[in-house]
Amino acid sequence: MKNQSSFRKKLLYFSGILILGLSAAAFTIDSINENSHQRLFSQGRKIFRYDTFGSEEFWGGKLRLHDAIKGEKNGGVGPGVSPATALAVGLKVDVEELSRATLNAIKAGKVDLNDPNSTLVLLKEDAVIGVKGFFSKEGNLTSVGIQCALCHSTVDNSLTTGIGRRLDGWANRDLNVGAVINLSPDLTVVNDLLGVSDETTRKVVLAWGPGKFDAILFLDGKGFRPDGKTAATLLPPAFGLAGVNLHTYTGWGSVTYWNAFVANLEMHGQGTFFDPRLDDAQKFPVAARARLGHTKAAKDLITSKLAALHHYQLSLPAPKPSKQTYDEIAAARGQKLFNEKAKCATCHVPPLYTEPGWNMHTAEAIGIDDFQAKRSPDERYRTTPLKGLWSHQKGGFYHDGRFADLKAVVDHYNGHLKLGLSSAESEDIVQFLKSL
Ligand code: HEC
Ligand code: HEC
Repeated sequence: MKNQSSFRKKLLYFSGILILGLSAAAFTIDSINENSHQRLFSQGRKIFRYDTFGSEEFWGGKLRLHDAIKGEKNGGVGPGVSPATALAVGLKVDVEELSRATLNAIKAGKVDLNDPNSTLVLLKEDAVIGVKGFFSKEGNLTSVGIQCALCHSTVDNSLTTGIGRRLDGWANRDLNVGAVINLSPDLTVVNDLLGVSDETTRKVVLAWGPGKFDAILFLDGKGFRPDGKTAATLLPPAFGLAGVNLHTYTGWGSVTYWNAFVANLEMHGQGTFFDPRLDDAQKFPVAARARLGHTKAAKDLITSKLAALHHYQLSLPAPKPSKQTYDEIAAARGQKLFNEKAKCATCHVPPLYTEPGWNMHTAEAIGIDDFQAKRSPDERYRTTPLKGLWSHQKGGFYHDGRFADLKAVVDHYNGHLKLGLSSAESEDIVQFLKSL
């Protein structure tokens, strides 16, 4: 009897511990799911889409873009920016943000797309992707700030060209950032930073053209390459980045490194940014002079957002192409060539399509000039991850779009690496690239 009851006690005791342990484990798993994923994901999405990081102090406060947008008739300057103009420079409108009244009016053709007042309505409804309008109580536009989505989102054109549902992370290759900057009636801060005339700044930004921006201009002041073409690079997608070590065309750092860089130095948000590599006055005269690698705003509106923003970008998968857009059988042949004869997979290692590890190469290794590589700390080009290539064919390929299409990319490797691919084989590889 005694033995039995002590056994029972032990059983009770152990099952108690087991239940406690299990519920603790369940609690831990639960809190990981809840906190780390769902919360970070939705916070990150909100930041990516809607946060300006205080950049309105720059785009509105200094560049006075809001004055250019509303135009002279509304107390600003110049003719104002109509929705037609905004769409023409590649800005996109999020159909899901529009009020029912505005949506119906657009559908009925009752919105005057040539009237800057219609742009003010879109801004009030927070529908212009990447641009946030700030309004006074009286409804007067008093400033504008920008968001990550400006360059790294587009729409599916569900309503009409340029108006549709958001596609987060997609490269906006229609967006002419230089033309947007050139709308500013006052570029004094930029001219002063670069140490050039207003005319020079405008010439440089207007040379970018659609789908391009030059993040390094504000570090080294180089507007043009030795061949006289713009030094700007293509806007890359911000999806499909999980598992990839270094980011940007020249591998400046991790996703979160670059997010801090962009939010502080390019968007001109208010935060903290540390990178003593920018103190190199030979390579980065502008950044070294302005001490950009030691940025510290009075109030930090960026650092607290980096974790969620990082998480969100890593959660964005590259979009899959529709099967009608490539030849499946040719793509299967192309895959074999990619992995074997064409040696692509030695650098673009599937399924990441970049190297696990230090994913960087000299200009020589890939057979191009080193101008852009030399504008970065490691002086190399990063192996671009290739998933979702189909979604950003406009503007071409490689960091500056030098190859107009995928066939030109494969032809380049065929010559440079002496691969001996027949033209049918090259075409098969193109079909494979389109299938990624
Ligand atoms: C004005 C346009 C613009 C804005 C706004 C912008 N970016 Fe970018 N982004 C670029 C360009 C251009 C590059 C390529 C820079 C390079 O490689 O030198 C880039 C690169 C990136 C990359 C690297 C992609 C890769 O393939 O490695 C990530 C990630 C990124 N941006 C995220 C963001 C986030 C997050 C924000 C908001 C904090 C943001 N960007 C705001 C233009 C922009
Ligand atoms: C030695 C390493 C290496 C090899 C081998 C290599 N690549 Fe690349 N690839 C790179 C690097 C680095 C870049 C970035 C170049 C740039 O942006 O200027 C790149 C860029 C690309 C791009 C452009 C992506 C974009 O978004 O602009 C494509 C497409 C591509 N490679 C396909 C291939 C194919 C197909 C092969 C085989 C025929 C191949 N690569 C072989 C390193 C390599």
